[in-house]
Amino acid sequence: MESPRKTLRDHIAERRNVDAIVLLKEDHKTVEKLFKQFEKAGDEAYDEKRKLVDQIIEELTTHAYIEEEIFYPVARAEVPETSDHILESVEEHHVVVWMLSELKDMDPRDERFDAKVTVLMENVRHHVEEEEDEWFPEVRKAMGRKRLQELGEEMEKGRAKAPSEPLAVSSAQQ
Ligand SMILES: [Fe+2]
Ligand SMILES: [Fe+2]
Repeated sequence: MESPRKTLRDHIAERRNVDAIVLLKEDHKTVEKLFKQFEKAGDEAYDEKRKLVDQIIEELTTHAYIEEEIFYPVARAEVPETSDHILESVEEHHVVVWMLSELKDMDPRDERFDAKVTVLMENVRHHVEEEEDEWFPEVRKAMGRKRLQELGEEMEKGRAKAPSEPLAVSSAQQ
């Protein structure tokens, strides 16, 4: 629970200290929670599944946007040895945002709905594992805490500019 004594400014100051990688991992956890809820939802819980998928679309679109617009280009420029990983990550985003855009307009009663969400979850889980285990640690080591905090602040601000349409994320058109 939040302490009631904290002012808005304290909160803003706190957010400023969140480094970029911590912020991205928090997003990953939020999405994983939604995936687990989806997996627990009953086969015929169509309204619940629709709501969860809408939340998943919003979270992942925003996340892909701040990674592609801010984190990936900066990491690639400042830690060039991660380039191959980043190029692969963008290809994975490409598949994910197209799946999100299909799910946006798909009826949860459609026999392909659950199958599509399942493949989406497999893709995202694999992608997150590669980010967290294979190349984020290299970025952390090379960039250091202070630089990652600056970047985290920039990404926190960047969220406000994220599109709601998955295909508006740049990897969709690449
Ligand atoms: Fe990513
Ligand atoms: Fe990510």
